[in-house]
Amino acid sequence: MELPGYAQVGALSVVACRMVGMTTPAAEIMDGAAYAQAVEDAVKASAAYYGGGTSALDDDAYDRLVRGIAAWESDHPDQVLPDSPTGKVAGGAVVGDVPHTVAMLSLDNVFTPEEFTAWTASLARRIGHEAQRFSVEPKLDGLAIAARYTDGRLTRLITRGDGIAGEDVSHAIGTLVGLPEKLERPVTVEVRGEVLMTTAQFEHANEVRTAHGGQPFANPRGASAGSLRAKDRAYTVPMTFFGYGLLPLADTDTALAARLGELAHSDLMALTAQLGVNTTATTAVPGIVAATVEETLERVRETAALRAELPFGIDGIVIKADLAADQQAAGSGSRAPRWAIAYKLPAVEKITRLVEVQWNVGRTGIIAPRGVLEPVQIEGATITYATLHNPADITRRDLRLGDHVMVHRAGDVIPRIEAPVAHLRTGDEQPIVFPEVCPRCGSAIDTSQERWRCEQGRNCHLVASLSYAAGRDQLDIEGLGATRIVQLVEAGLAADLADLFTLTRDQLLALERMGATSTDNLLTAIDAAKDQPLSRVLCALGVRGTGRSMSRRIARHFATMDNIRAADADAMQQVEGIGTEKAPSIVAELAELSPLIDRLTAAGVNMTEPGATPPTPTTSDTDTDTEVAADGTDKAVGPLAGMTVVVTGAMTGALEKLSRNQMNELIERAGGRSSSSVSRKTSLVVAGEGAGSKRAKAEDLGIRLASPDEFAALVADFTT
Ligand code: IVH
Repeated sequence: MELPGYAQVGALSVVACRMVGMTTPAAEIMDGAAYAQAVEDAVKASAAYYGGGTSALDDDAYDRLVRGIAAWESDHPDQVLPDSPTGKVAGGAVVGDVPHTVAMLSLDNVFTPEEFTAWTASLARRIGHEAQRFSVEPKLDGLAIAARYTDGRLTRLITRGDGIAGEDVSHAIGTLVGLPEKLERPVTVEVRGEVLMTTAQFEHANEVRTAHGGQPFANPRGASAGSLRAKDRAYTVPMTFFGYGLLPLADTDTALAARLGELAHSDLMALTAQLGVNTTATTAVPGIVAATVEETLERVRETAALRAELPFGIDGIVIKADLAADQQAAGSGSRAPRWAIAYKLPAVEKITRLVEVQWNVGRTGIIAPRGVLEPVQIEGATITYATLHNPADITRRDLRLGDHVMVHRAGDVIPRIEAPVAHLRTGDEQPIVFPEVCPRCGSAIDTSQERWRCEQGRNCHLVASLSYAAGRDQLDIEGLGATRIVQLVEAGLAADLADLFTLTRDQLLALERMGATSTDNLLTAIDAAKDQPLSRVLCALGVRGTGRSMSRRIARHFATMDNIRAADADAMQQVEGIGTEKAPSIVAELAELSPLIDRLTAAGVNMTEPGATPPTPTTSDTDTDTEVAADGTDKAVGPLAGMTVVVTGAMTGALEKLSRNQMNELIERAGGRSSSSVSRKTSLVVAGEGAGSKRAKAEDLGIRLASPDEFAALVADFTT
């Protein structure tokens, strides 16, 4: 996806990923104008990020931008703009009016084991020895907050702001799970930590928000930032607090201050938990103490592996020198401490475009929407589809086709669309159209629940498969459309394909809107269907991987259903287009269908392919259009033997009434192979009226063309 705001500058591009796993590549800034634009966009994005709005840039794009800005500034130190986000807490986007007693700093980042090892080496140089041990914790993806307790009572909540002063958000006291209003001991301390929304809290928050007519938040982070700062909302949404720091409040109990100042980070965390504050100790990724770099890296790997299953978002792992003495020796810069580092994990959220919504019907008849996306890379995987929950959810979130959407994908979980990025709308977005009938079987839809369901429920599949079997290119049973099939299924008269052939006149007459004429016509059509060639019967069975043309090839190859059923995977592979993967699955599925095939046979359904001979060298029948080659495969004969034929445009004359499928059947009866696309392998293109690009392509490639009349003459002996 292009970075918004740079197209007009035309001087910014993304350079190749540094070879550091899945790290963020820097944006390349070519000149001063691009730099100024980049700074403006970064400040805007950062303000949205910390202020609860939805940024036009996802985290990855933002990181890329800031790295580009930093690179340009290091080459042009005299041209650094005062607004630049580099070197500032929160990118300099937010300020507050409550001073922090001790600066609330940010963290520097590393992205690879090598970068992390280099950081530990620089820490060792700074403190004069290897750090004795590290505290390793998840980097919670929310926003930092300072909670001030006086004599054990929660009195004030302050955001990080610019690190020096933050915003008073004390109105949120009582809404943060894990941050008690009263501590277990009457101490005067400041607990620092992260406020976030768990996945469940986020879903709840968006439901409540949209029910109040608001735009949904794009992700849990934005949702917690927005909800924490919102003062006079008609509703409150719960959030969760995790403590990661404990310090004395200035000018209070000096003995306590001295004691806290001496404690290792891991001890401070244990104390925080004892005071009744939530910490990561309660999660699947509790803070641990690691003695070595290798052990730390192992923990990074473990945490990364657990990420997808966590009920809250993390965007990295924070590694801190655990001992107070090591921390003091390392000191802090203006933006970040030198004793801690964030090992960033690859972004799991990206912004891309929703191009289409598909509706898929599950086994139980649930009709589930699925979003088709402009492909986007997340954690090294290309994401093209994402789940959308249900129509009500689409409406609630006001999703539209063409929208920019935030897509979330962690680990192997199915990617999901979080929300539209509404302010990136151009006005060209289109409403998502909901299906009016079941997209699989055409029955009515039960919309009484949030999850829509085909009224046929589990029978939907049966209605769909019977409709397919009765269709024009299969058994071609006129008068047996989806509505009639639904009636038959609901009346318990058709539980599978074979049942259609044993329907009685009385049974049909008993159905609603079924008069004598329609009944007789339907019975005649069903009777006629018994004479369809084997290829169509096979196709009607709906064996996976065997559509119309494959069914024809199998039927022509084996000539009879008995031969098909006798074929093992090796024999099946003799059919053109069936490889080692498809062959066993076709054989297995036919075996499963055995009882059904027996009943169809017993009902008098034809199980032979006219004009085909089985692939046995013993055959004595010479009046056929196939011969058996020495290798046992069938060698087609006939006017089209060895030819690949494409039909395009409308057929006229003797061929006028033939559907495309019937034309393909004719081609194959005459020994040819039908195909739908023109390539160098095509031998002949039958071009009817209105033929367009396929005809043009054939002309370009010098492929032989035939009119419908010429073709009809060529295959005259094979028309039925
Ligand atoms: S320690 C001076 N520990 O990450 C130390 N921060 O990118 C600074 N964060 O501002 C914080 N989980 O909002 C620390 N286990 C953790 C954290 C954590 C998330 C956030 C925090 C901080 C930001 C820096």
